[in-house]
Amino acid sequence: MGRRLLIFLPRLLLLLLSSHAATAFRFTVDDFPDGFTFGSGTAAFQYEGAIAEDGKSPSIWNTWAHSARNPNERSGDIACDGYHKYKEDVKLIKDIGLKAYRFSISWSRLIPNGRGAINPKGLQFYNDLINELVKEGIQVHAVIYHLDLPQILEDEYGGWLSPRIVDDFTAYSDVCFREFGDRVAHWTTILEPNIIAQGSYDMGAVPPGRCSNPFGVGRNCTVGNSSVEPYLFLHHSLLAHSSAVRLYREKYQAVQKGVVGINLYSLWIYTLTDSAEDIQATERANDYLFGSILHPFLFGDYPESMKKAAGTRLPSFTSYESELVTGAFDFIGLNHYSSIYASNNPDASKMPVRDQAADVGALFRATRDGETSTLIPSGRVVDPQGLEHALRYIREKYGNISIYIQENGRGQLSDDLMDVERVDFLKKYIASTLKAIRDGANVKGYSVWALMDLYEIFGGYKAYFGLIRVDFWDKRRQRQPRLSAYWYSDFLKKNASIQVESGAATTTYHAQI
Ligand SMILES: *[C@@H]1O[C@H](CO)[C@@H](O)[C@H](O)[C@H]1NC(C)=O
Ligand SMILES: *[C@@H]1O[C@H](CO)[C@@H](O)[C@H](O)[C@H]1NC(C)=O
Ligand SMILES: *[C@@H]1O[C@H](CO)[C@@H](O)[C@H](O)[C@H]1NC(C)=O
Ligand SMILES: *[C@@H]1O[C@H](CO)[C@@H](O)[C@H](O)[C@H]1NC(C)=O
Repeated sequence: MGRRLLIFLPRLLLLLLSSHAATAFRFTVDDFPDGFTFGSGTAAFQYEGAIAEDGKSPSIWNTWAHSARNPNERSGDIACDGYHKYKEDVKLIKDIGLKAYRFSISWSRLIPNGRGAINPKGLQFYNDLINELVKEGIQVHAVIYHLDLPQILEDEYGGWLSPRIVDDFTAYSDVCFREFGDRVAHWTTILEPNIIAQGSYDMGAVPPGRCSNPFGVGRNCTVGNSSVEPYLFLHHSLLAHSSAVRLYREKYQAVQKGVVGINLYSLWIYTLTDSAEDIQATERANDYLFGSILHPFLFGDYPESMKKAAGTRLPSFTSYESELVTGAFDFIGLNHYSSIYASNNPDASKMPVRDQAADVGALFRATRDGETSTLIPSGRVVDPQGLEHALRYIREKYGNISIYIQENGRGQLSDDLMDVERVDFLKKYIASTLKAIRDGANVKGYSVWALMDLYEIFGGYKAYFGLIRVDFWDKRRQRQPRLSAYWYSDFLKKNASIQVESGAATTTYHAQI
């Protein structure tokens, strides 16, 4: 496959059609700071498959994918079959010219009982993958937890809802650091706890899918408590993360010289109107989105607005915990896709029983009336400037912290290889990343989601986020690079000059592969 990519590259023809020279922003990869890493990524359950192979036990995502609550037609049992095809994929990563590859480790593959014995075959798989990446000179960015708790821990004590998760997560992280840390220098502990709190425990739309009536997707919740569980998850995530960070710092960092951080779902939130109510609602929404994690990291406690809205449902930090979480990160990873408008939700304060969403007290919408924003199939707004706003907001509120854009990208409606819209999206968001750096943001890397089509929580095999197309209807799960893979490769390996229009005109490519 790698060879085919190389043969095709010289024949790739990209023609820029529209242009308003006066408003054009031009850049090359050389314009990014030294050491800036461009990459792409996958995640264990979405990529590996081999769901019951070589000693792996089920995860909560496994269970979800086989339950009636899963809105997708298929499960993730085989996914991209990455467990068997990782060597081929590392070649593709190398051929595209990626500096870094971000993947997640499956807890239930490495430690099938959740704690205790290591599965030798699981250990072997991650060692093989990491060695292959190192051999090709690719930086390894490992995520310890991406939505796939061992089901056995969910069954035993309710998983993230119990403080017992802290010790088990720390012990699992210890195994990761000890076994892989000689070759892995970038560790991300937990994926998007700031939004998973709501997705998993308020709306019940994401594994383990808990919620209580009248809240939740479909208003048909049988197990859970949307008023308190999102906060328990959040609190225990912060403690588990911080405990793993403390362990890394005490036991490994001096020798392994890596960095460890957490991942946040990022969104730029515009206020719908300039009314005081809407501005305050937007501030509350930002406090929940960014502040729920960053405020404890900086100040050892939750934001005032959260404490006020949730009262005793929000756990409070003991002085030991407060000290544990303060400063517990080397970097923050952001998954940034879009922007949104917020207005005050006047009904929220009147609700007799409130869920986390009611505590935020905001209504969200994609566009303002009469506005012509570009919406992509998921209904998300394409707003590269929103990334600049978010990065400035974080810096002004929480300091000039080290940031990796860990996920950015867009899906499409078909598995078309000519993903012209994705190319347009990526170059605009990469341009905005550069603009933000010039504005003073401390961004160290950018990673496209996703390296290839994956099994997505929303959309299953039909979300098509990949730089590389995967044929999920073919046993061999054949890979084919899309136009965006060639485009990214030209940018990274051939110093291609990228031009972005800041006016309304969209850039059109004529491409021939
Ligand atoms: C609600 O959930 C129950 C139990 O899972 C199921 O039998 C029922 O069909 C669901 N109702 C709706 C409207 O989804
Ligand atoms: C959620 O938990 C709170 C606090 O324990 C309790 O008061 C409330 O009744 C619970 N709600 C549900 C739906 O179980
Ligand atoms: C933030 O940190 C980066 C990296 O050290 C630096 O280049 C940038 O100038 C800093 N920004 C501000 C506003 O001080
Ligand atoms: C990349 O292109 C830019 C602008 O065209 C140029 O200034 C720079 O020297 C080039 N870098 C390399 C390594 O060729």
